[in-house]
This record gives sequence, C-alpha cells and structure tokens, in this order.
Amino acid sequence: MSTEPAAAGAATPGGYDRRRELQAFDDTKAGVKGLVDAGVTAVPTIFRHHPDSLDLEATSSSTDDVAAIPVVDLSGAPREEVVARVRHAAETVGFFQVVNHGVPGELMAAVLDGVRRFNEGPAEAKRRAYTRDTARKVRFSSNFDLFQSAAANWRDTLFCELAPVPPSPEELPEAVRDVMLEYGGAATELALRVLELLSESLGLPGDRLREMGCAQGLNVVSHYYPPCPEPHLTLGTTRHTDANFITVLLQDGMGGLQVLLDRAGAGGGRRWVDVPPLPGALIINIGDLLQLVSNDRLRSVEHRVLANGSSDTARVSVACFFNTDIKGSTRLCGPITEGGNDDPPLYRSVTVREFMARVYSEGLGGRPLDYFRLEH
Ligand code: OGA
Ligand code: NI
Repeated sequence: MSTEPAAAGAATPGGYDRRRELQAFDDTKAGVKGLVDAGVTAVPTIFRHHPDSLDLEATSSSTDDVAAIPVVDLSGAPREEVVARVRHAAETVGFFQVVNHGVPGELMAAVLDGVRRFNEGPAEAKRRAYTRDTARKVRFSSNFDLFQSAAANWRDTLFCELAPVPPSPEELPEAVRDVMLEYGGAATELALRVLELLSESLGLPGDRLREMGCAQGLNVVSHYYPPCPEPHLTLGTTRHTDANFITVLLQDGMGGLQVLLDRAGAGGGRRWVDVPPLPGALIINIGDLLQLVSNDRLRSVEHRVLANGSSDTARVSVACFFNTDIKGSTRLCGPITEGGNDDPPLYRSVTVREFMARVYSEGLGGRPLDYFRLEH
C-alpha cells in the first residue's frame, strides 16, 4: 500500500477519497482513542506520514545529546547564576527543564490524572465536548488542523482557554473541573518568574516581558496519545515550533518528546534528541513570538512527539501556551531595541492576531516566523 498522503479533497485513481475519510473520522467525535477502542490493528491511511517527513532515522541515541538539554534549578543558586543558566538554555537549545519551580507535585499529578480520566471516561462526555468552534473556550477534538495537514497525528486534545477570561466551571469537563483552573494559575506564576529571568537575560528590566503582555493569555492544551499499533508509520505530534511567547509543558513518564538539535561538534548535523521524563520537572520552551521580540536572541526550536509505541498505556501531556490576549489585543509586537539590543530588526512588527492567523492558515509544521522576517 502506498504511504503517500493524497491531497485533501482529491480522490485518487484508486478511489481513495481522503477528504471523505477525514470527515468520517471527525464525525465519530471519538478521536483516535475511539479507533483504538474499536480494535484497529493498522494505522488508517489518513494518519500515515510520508517516510521523508517521519525522519525517524535521525533520532540520536547519544547520551551527550540528551545531556545538552539543560536542567535548571530555580531555587538553588544565586540569582545571577540562575539568570545565566536560563539565558544559556534559551539562547542555545530553546528548551529546558526546570526543578524547584514552585508548582506543587500533587497538582501536577492531579491534572495529568484528570486529563487521563476525561479521555478514558464515557464516550458521551467526549462527544458533547467535541467541536472545532473556536468561539468555545473549552473544546475537545483530534488534530486541530485535521483538514489542513498532509497527515493526521495519533493524538486527541482537550483545549481550554483560561486567560484573560476563564471559562465558567460548568464549561469544563467534570474530570478536570476541580483542577484545571488551579493548575493554570500555578503554571502562570511559574511563567511570570521565567519571563522575569528572560527579561533580565536580555538586559531589560525584570518586568519588561510581563508588561508587554506575554502571559496575559493562557491556553491549556492537554494531549492524550493512545497506544499506536504501527508507531513507525505516523507521529504523535508533527514537528513544529510553538506559536506563542512561552510554553510550560508537563509530560507524564511515557516519553516520546524530541527536540531538533544542531550539533556543533561530533560531525555536526541536526538530530532529534529525546527530552527524557524527569519526575517533578516541568519543561519550558521559547515560542516564535519570543524569538521575534528578542530579534533571534532567544530560540523557538522545532520539536515533535513520536507515536506512542506502548501496547497498553496512553501518554498524557499538558501544555500551557502563554500569549498576549490574542482576541482582544491590537498592540504591535516587534523586535525590542533597548537594553543593548541594537542589532537591525530582523522582523517586521505584527499584531499577535495577525501572527496567529498566519499560524492557522499554515497548520502545524508551518514556518510563520519566516513569513514576517525582513529581507536583508
Ligand atoms: C505542543 C507540544 C508536546 C507534548 O502541544 O505544542 O509540543 O509533549 N506538545 O505533548
Ligand atoms: Ni509544541
């Protein structure tokens, strides 16, 4: 069987109608978990990625590479040292883990558990929550870009818009109702601390990035990666950069998250490197908009999630995407020029709304930053 994904909308000569398959899958409102529950033993064609885009051979098994993803203790050292470590991590890998971050371990466990229970709970509650209507603050769906992407991912997602205006508790699925708002609040405190450290590392006053509104908006995006019968044919999440200012990511112990690293030594080249689960830690990564306002000093790095090869256990992760008030704000964001940041601007100024419109039109794996980059 060909693994070449057919363009959406076009029936192939063999009679395969991708658009119709996508619609039929979406109409089940049961997501990938629904397929697994129905006992699929092969990955359906809509989920099959082209072998070139899978790029599975490029995974590094070198322990040096894994060690390149920094772990920063937020409480351990004198402040200048913490600033220096965060700065190094944000300027090189763009991805780091933090420990002693102030978010209680029980709260982290409770949100992972709530997300798992929602996904493994009654199909009816999930069907009710399933929607692509972005006017709704809480929505469950499989693949937000299902109808745009070349190949679908093996995961389902519960999306909760928590700030600037939180949903009413009744809008949240019962399984996460008691924990989601509290977790979002704790993650916000951490994000504000990290933004302060990043402001300082850019030579700016500590409150500069917060005052820009970098953490005014919060979308908590909870992913559920069911076991996949043929994990070598698809992905959990396609390679992408995050289209926001900063992400606080919580993953469970299953693994599968990888970042694309440039290797200076060891023959160079780019390699996919595992971000190993570290009990109690949270992952911080720099988003496209922070790369834009820092004029490329901080790096928004590509990452992906492999399809879950476990035979029986789903992987759960909870990503907190911090952004400005996307719907409300008309403020322009452009490269910051003060604090010794006097290189010529590499990007034109954009409203975050304009930036996000570009992101949605490109779908996951697009390169929105390139679109706003100035020619030099
Ligand atoms: C994301 C993401 C990683 C994960 O949601 O942008 O990269 O581990 N998630 O689920
Ligand atoms: Ni991401």
